[in-house]
Amino acid sequence: MAQVLTLKTRINSAFQLLMSFHWAMYWCFLILFTTGTIMARLTRGATGRSELYDVHKGLGVFVLLLLVARLIVLLRVWWRKYTKQLPKFSPAWWQKFFLHALLYLFMVAVPLTGLLFSNSRRSGSVTVLGLTLPDLFPVNPAMASLGQDLHFWLAYTFLLTIMAHLLAQRKFIQAQWRRYFT
Ligand code: HEM
Ligand code: HEM
Repeated sequence: MAQVLTLKTRINSAFQLLMSFHWAMYWCFLILFTTGTIMARLTRGATGRSELYDVHKGLGVFVLLLLVARLIVLLRVWWRKYTKQLPKFSPAWWQKFFLHALLYLFMVAVPLTGLLFSNSRRSGSVTVLGLTLPDLFPVNPAMASLGQDLHFWLAYTFLLTIMAHLLAQRKFIQAQWRRYFT
């Protein structure tokens, strides 16, 4: 009994840490989608345009770093949970697994295509906290145009997948709503 309780507490503390990453990254994505859609529509030379690009690109790279830490915590949660007992592999489990895997895939692909676009257009154009990052991709106008298209389509498909996630989490959202507003 004491052993089961210890195991549950250990799983829960790792899961709580995972959810701390979840919410920290949620705020980052909110800022990234807002800055992205606004800045892409500003005309060249508009006030604040280049600052918005800098914030967007810097935060986009920062999110990639957070993602590495989040994946390590996720592996810890899985290890603690599934080395003791395998999941039931029910249709509901697979559905949740595929949706979360898709979200992770976008969390990697969207910032990478942003980097492809920025690096291929101009060398040394991405800074994080004042530090200029080394280029991941060489300058290449053809790749810049591909990166721009990919970044656009993947970002908005990611947004659609987030909507599907919200739909799947509607019970959680309803419970929060009741807790704070009724
Ligand atoms: C920015 C967009 C979001 C992304 C990319 C995202 C992604 C994820 C992922 C991958 C998981 C699985 C746990 C993990 O590995 O971290 C998860 C769990 C969860 N998400 Fe989100 N999420 C987002 C926004 C939201 C929002 C806005 C809500 C609710 C208002 C929400 C509610 C939840 C809940 C309750 C869980 C726990 C599910 C469970 O274990 O049953 N998420 N999310
Ligand atoms: C998960 C992270 C990211 C998200 C969710 C995101 C999202 C977006 C969105 C929604 C747009 C607007 C697209 C449009 O309407 O035309 C955009 C534009 C842009 N993003 Fe990102 N982005 C992310 C990461 C990055 C990174 C890491 C970089 C580069 C280092 C980057 C560089 C750009 C650039 C340069 C544009 C402007 C595109 C244009 O002028 O057509 N993004 N992003």
